[in-house]
Amino acid sequence: MNVFITGGTGLIGSAVVAELLGNGHTVVALARSDTSAAAVEAAGATACRGGLADLDVLRDGAGRADGVIHLAFANDFSSPEALARAVAEESAALAAMGEALIGSERPFVTCSGTPVAAGRPSTEDDPLPTDGPVGGRSRAVMGVLDLAARGVRSSAVRLPRTVHNNGNGGFAGLLTLIARNSGVSGYPGDGAQRWPAVHALDVAVLFRLALEHAPAGTAWHGVADEGDAVRDIAAVIGRRLGLPVQSVPTESYGPLGVIFAADQPASSAHTREALGWEPTHPSLLDDLENIQP
Ligand SMILES: NC(=O)c1ccc[n+]([C@@H]2O[C@H](COP(=O)([O-])OP(=O)(O)OC[C@H]3O[C@@H](n4cnc5c(N)ncnc54)[C@H](OP(=O)(O)O)[C@@H]3O)[C@@H](O)[C@H]2O)c1
Repeated sequence: MNVFITGGTGLIGSAVVAELLGNGHTVVALARSDTSAAAVEAAGATACRGGLADLDVLRDGAGRADGVIHLAFANDFSSPEALARAVAEESAALAAMGEALIGSERPFVTCSGTPVAAGRPSTEDDPLPTDGPVGGRSRAVMGVLDLAARGVRSSAVRLPRTVHNNGNGGFAGLLTLIARNSGVSGYPGDGAQRWPAVHALDVAVLFRLALEHAPAGTAWHGVADEGDAVRDIAAVIGRRLGLPVQSVPTESYGPLGVIFAADQPASSAHTREALGWEPTHPSLLDDLENIQP
């Protein structure tokens, strides 16, 4: 397939581009800067200049492709307003690409987080939360899945809190950054809350499998580690950085505090069985050993 991808220079997207190219697909990647264009060209993809706000570019890119994978997100958690702007930008981008695919029966793979299910690992059948600081992202993803009724083979890969590679990425990566800046490897509450995780190279395979095989309107869990206690994650970070490990107030994490404090393990049993996906790369706790002081 000739695949149009957004976010192809990111931690996850660069792994997805390599996975697609390594499996006989060609890739056109949205690139919003010279640096990003050079990166995707060096990876073997064709750059399509534009950003998430360039809706005509997105419609055109999606309309010309045999399939679309969406991963770009501004990831601006600096304030509730900045996060809301990023969510609105992404929602409009998803709607524009979806519009271009209506009636084509082509695959459109987007991403979301895994949901939370009280007291147990969430499954592919659990609904996404539509409230909270990133509830708008869930609504946009549900809009994509609803396109199944309008001739789009839409699917969503639900990503765990940490998608990592070489010790970087996701919420564990944010904890590392905060630890470097504050001098304390912190965690909210008692740290017993569990976060799921996956290696970027493993989840890249799942994006390809969803593109190739996922039935319309389906959601999948890109989860390798069902849930590590956040204090165990903080303990590895603290040891690698030579910093004390301790609980810190939830409010100090800003809009992310409420998400950081939640117990949110997730299962991928159905995904593994139905799509034949099997993660093989290092677990989060092993990969965090790559953190350098
Ligand atoms: N990493 C995780 O642990 C994790 C966990 C759950 C969900 N996710 C989600 O998975 C997706 C990819 O995550 P990631 O970790 O790979 O992100 P990342 O490394 O921060 O990469 C973000 C990508 O989005 C692009 N981008 C950002 N804003 C853009 C804009 N306005 N226009 C065009 N491109 C834009 C960036 O392009 P440039 O190279 O030009 O900056 C980059 O390719 C995001 O939706 C993220 O929320 C990630």
